[in-house]
Amino acid sequence: MSALSHNRIQIMHGVNLDQIGRRDPQHYGGITFTQLEQTIDSFARQLGLDARFFQTNSEAELIENLHRLEEVADGVIINAGAWSHYSHAIGDALELAGVPAVEVHLSDVTARPETWRHASVLADHCIATVSGKGPDGYRDALVALKSKLGG
Ligand code: DQA
Repeated sequence: MSALSHNRIQIMHGVNLDQIGRRDPQHYGGITFTQLEQTIDSFARQLGLDARFFQTNSEAELIENLHRLEEVADGVIINAGAWSHYSHAIGDALELAGVPAVEVHLSDVTARPETWRHASVLADHCIATVSGKGPDGYRDALVALKSKLGG
């Protein structure tokens, strides 16, 4: 167990991530959302981090949670789904959140045929972006946050 005292990591999943088990397995690996959260939780425990989970299909709800984030978390991992590609409002809220953020995408967004997926309007507000590594990308994100938080 890590001695790190600032170890509360909010895992934020946005639009359609709750349906991941029904989405194209070529991109999302056929894993269910519950399995994804369990996998992330186990990565976090191995690293001595305390993962907390939040998913919403409401952009407003995600933004309101980011407004309150500083009270409940020391860092955030965000997979905002399609919002990542156009929601400057979520970008502004990430900046307001005042805790380090890492952006994760299960699929390799830069290699997908739809060009609108290639850009992220959240990346500039994050200390790192991990894309195309499936669930293992969340471990990379947790390691990056742990190091940023002094662990
Ligand atoms: C995603 C990639 C996005 O382009 C897409 O809209 C998603 C999931 C990913 O995890 O690969 O919903 O963020």
